[in-house]
Amino acid sequence: MTSKPKVQTTAGTKATSFTPAGPLTGRITVPGDKSISHRSLILSSLAVGKSQITGLLEGEDVLATAAALRAMGATIEKSDDTWTVHGVGVGGLMQPDTAIDLGNSGTSVRLLMGLVASHDISVTFTGDASLSKRPMGRVIEPLSTMGAEFTARMSSDGKACLPLTVRGLCPAVPMEYRLPVASAQVKSAILIAGLNTPGVTRVIEPVLTRDHSETMLKGFGADLTVETDKDGSRIISLTGEAELSPQKIKVPGDPSSAAFPVVAALLVPGSDIVVENVGINPTRAGLFTVLQKMGGDISFKKKRTVGGEPVADIHVKHSKLTGIDVPADIAPSMIDEFPILFIAAALAEGTTITGGLSELRVKESDRLSQMAAGLSLLGVDVTEREDGLIITGNGELIPGGKKNAAIETALDHRIAMSFAVAGLVTKKGATVDDMSPTETSFPGFADMLTALQDSTK
Ligand code: S3P
Repeated sequence: MTSKPKVQTTAGTKATSFTPAGPLTGRITVPGDKSISHRSLILSSLAVGKSQITGLLEGEDVLATAAALRAMGATIEKSDDTWTVHGVGVGGLMQPDTAIDLGNSGTSVRLLMGLVASHDISVTFTGDASLSKRPMGRVIEPLSTMGAEFTARMSSDGKACLPLTVRGLCPAVPMEYRLPVASAQVKSAILIAGLNTPGVTRVIEPVLTRDHSETMLKGFGADLTVETDKDGSRIISLTGEAELSPQKIKVPGDPSSAAFPVVAALLVPGSDIVVENVGINPTRAGLFTVLQKMGGDISFKKKRTVGGEPVADIHVKHSKLTGIDVPADIAPSMIDEFPILFIAAALAEGTTITGGLSELRVKESDRLSQMAAGLSLLGVDVTEREDGLIITGNGELIPGGKKNAAIETALDHRIAMSFAVAGLVTKKGATVDDMSPTETSFPGFADMLTALQDSTK
């Protein structure tokens, strides 16, 4: 049986239509983990000597980090499948000649602000329209306490934003900092600043966030300990001035990218797929737990550990989902996965309630309002609250888009990919205004969807 064409680009525009698909089948891999890729390049640049990285995500965000590190003196090259980084050693970064444009990448700018903060250099960071709206005060505040100086553009609502210049202090002053927001970027910025700071830099984390920085810093030989206090907060202590030794790193597939084919396979009738080699670190795998609670048939095969990270092949079969009340405390372990969860909720029978998600308003876009707007356009029953969405599905296909109405993605890759998946399970299809943001984290996204459809033919 031949199925209808699923992905159509309207000539002369960036708008792309996604229409109902036959079953998705086959085995795929997804690009390397974005968080681990950024950290691999940054820590390798601070080691003395040659590190080698395979599986690196070659998306725009990670390439922006690589370009920034090159501008500060690291040598970073690719040959065949391997990226080689010749690090300059902790403290060895050089003054770049020009401002550094980090495109759409919040992780790049926040981690690199930490890097510059304890070096005797001054760097100006710029970004695209989305990144230029995102709040930087959460990183500026602790790094200023360590002695770095910042000048930033103030937004109309009084937030410090890009363009921004950071002048590092060397030696910086070690500090103890209790995170006021659950943010792995803020935690990591402080720890990276601590690498070139004499004494012990301590981050207290009341709510556990992704722990790749801790695992990787230890792997590179930094003196880092993690304790838990009586309230359950994590106390992460790093002794500077660290000496990092070069590593060979294998980056696993990104669970945040695997989320899209996993949800697509759950939703499209008759689907049965395996996504190979995906990181399933518990600080990242919350979506899979929530989908299983909704009735999703998801199982983890060949569980193994690669470079200190748990990895598995994820087997997913089409399932009938039921709406649930998603506990707010699972949010940090799936913070990037709510857009695609909202699509699953739209197909589930009954109501899905989410809350505690005000952080979603300061991601690449305001993900609560963009998702609510897009879902409404597709005829889904959605209510937007200050800190979450309430979505009611009836277990059937989404009614579908109003004629010619494209869903606005606001330079947000995860909004684009979520509505692409939604298009496969609508009665009439969905048109996404601009799929180009997917290049930041998931090059080849549309080809991946086509390959899963083609293997059925
Ligand atoms: C990231 C942390 C998260 C996440 C982002 C990547 C990281 O941001 O949303 O995509 O690599 O540390 P926050 O620290 O703002 O929660």
